[in-house]
Amino acid sequence: MTKIAGAGVVVTGGGNGIGRAIARKMAAGGARVVVNDLDGDAAAAVAREIDGYAVSGDAASEAGVRELIAAARGHLGTIDVYCANAGIGIRGGPEAPDEHWLRAWDVNLMAHVRASRELLPGWLERGSGTFVITASAAGLLTMLGSAPYSVTKHAAVAYAEWLAATYLHRGIAVHCICPQGVRTQMLARSGAAGDAVLQRTAIEPEDVADALWDAMAVGRFLVLPHQEVHDYYVRRATDTDRWLAGMRKLQQQIERAVSGPAS
Ligand SMILES: NC(=O)c1ccc[n+]([C@@H]2O[C@H](COP(=O)([O-])OP(=O)(O)OC[C@H]3O[C@@H](n4cnc5c(N)ncnc54)[C@H](O)[C@@H]3O)[C@@H](O)[C@H]2O)c1
Repeated sequence: MTKIAGAGVVVTGGGNGIGRAIARKMAAGGARVVVNDLDGDAAAAVAREIDGYAVSGDAASEAGVRELIAAARGHLGTIDVYCANAGIGIRGGPEAPDEHWLRAWDVNLMAHVRASRELLPGWLERGSGTFVITASAAGLLTMLGSAPYSVTKHAAVAYAEWLAATYLHRGIAVHCICPQGVRTQMLARSGAAGDAVLQRTAIEPEDVADALWDAMAVGRFLVLPHQEVHDYYVRRATDTDRWLAGMRKLQQQIERAVSGPAS
């Protein structure tokens, strides 16, 4: 039940894709928006368009998060809503180098821990604040071909749940966004698994921003822009072997697509 009109909102990774759509939606609802992105030009372009304020930089590292929040507070006075949206898609399995696993861990999870570490003391003191995490359906299910992504998005969902369970009664709202495919540059780079699993049902970034808006209006934690994810999530929990059998078929389908038609 977050009030957006007049609110001070920060969106990380707001220069493109889902973050840009969220920044636009919040600004259209009357929020004052700080747009962060590693890509300073992209952040500046979105900020110009929505009459917001751009802060370029890394929204994941400890120093980057601290600098972003200080700059946002300097501009907004108070941060009411923090959309921890920046994320990276890292492909591979155990063979992916540690460096890739650790970067996924940093951006897809620790960014949220570090931002909430900065924000919670003030929010708890005043008894309000809204923390939004853009996780993924991969955080409820899995993303074939991308173990570091799946694992760190599960961690992001777990952290969002923990925040909600711990602080809801103290006035903190938490929303966790879990879409499947969304037509952004990340989806375009997702390779054979993305083509086989995500493209057919992909939605627009604006659909994700609308779903978040609706969830904020009623105080719903889980934001599922793809309704079918609800059913997959139930199946995974209640009949895990059947769910895994379905995933195995998809994996085989991807392997056939990669190797091409048999000659
Ligand atoms: N596109 C999809 O199909 C999809 C599906 C589910 C979840 N998601 C999640 O949605 C979020 C947004 O993804 P998107 O599809 O809009 O991707 P995108 O690549 O289009 O945009 C992500 C933006 O985040 C920025 N960014 C990356 N790391 C950053 C960092 N450390 N600090 C600041 N900015 C950073 C990038 O420069 C980019 O502008 C991610 O968390 C992603 O995992 C995407």
